[in-house]
Amino acid sequence: MEKLDNVVELTHPLLQHKITMLRDKNTGTAEFRALVEEIAMLEAFEALNDLQTVDIECETPIEKCMAPVIAGRKMAIVPILRAGLGMVNGIQKLVPTAKIGHIGMYRDEETHIPHEYYCKLPSPIEERLIVVTDPMLATGGSAIDAITLIKQHGGKRIKFMAIIAAPEGVRALHEAHPDVQIYIGHIDRELNSDAYICPGLGDAGDRIFGTK
Ligand code: PRP
Ligand code: URA
Repeated sequence: MEKLDNVVELTHPLLQHKITMLRDKNTGTAEFRALVEEIAMLEAFEALNDLQTVDIECETPIEKCMAPVIAGRKMAIVPILRAGLGMVNGIQKLVPTAKIGHIGMYRDEETHIPHEYYCKLPSPIEERLIVVTDPMLATGGSAIDAITLIKQHGGKRIKFMAIIAAPEGVRALHEAHPDVQIYIGHIDRELNSDAYICPGLGDAGDRIFGTK
């Protein structure tokens, strides 16, 4: 698809390999969950490459030196339930101090319109870097509504991470929230008439949690 400001499609070979394993319909629940976590960690490594550092004094067994640590800006990870939950551990392993918010959304199976059923965010949220996670960006409706909700609560600096996206969803999210940086593992071909991503990986929530 065309290039859009603030949209990054990640290309690392290890990430692409793991996404292919995810797509495979024969990948079972335990492996699927582990892959989602690893992919989230690889994506976060890239998405967080603009974190500020500050030098502090550090004493090695040899001598004292000044060495960088992540500067004070606080972070929040906000998964869109359910499937976004699968990405939290991978990011939290990199940033163990991050607070976790939750936004519950489900898509109506007929209309594909998202419905919010839960929202609990760390407070105050204004100063935090907020990383919203959802493996699938299909029509973009769930991500758009979740980010609107975060902004209504005062969120200002927001990044969105998905594993697989449809071009339609990327365009819609970018148009609705052009200030949000969007990181995608792979942008697929299109949505089908049920608003599933093709080729995609099926229903991410069901595959992570072993439901049908
Ligand atoms: C899936 C997925 C996204 C949403 C994407 O969730 O995890 O949240 O659909 O579709 P959209 O871009 O068209 O809004 P679903 O509603 O199936 O809920 P679940 O995670 O609880 O299974
Ligand atoms: N949600 C999913 O889990 N998969 C899709 O392909 C679209 C929405």
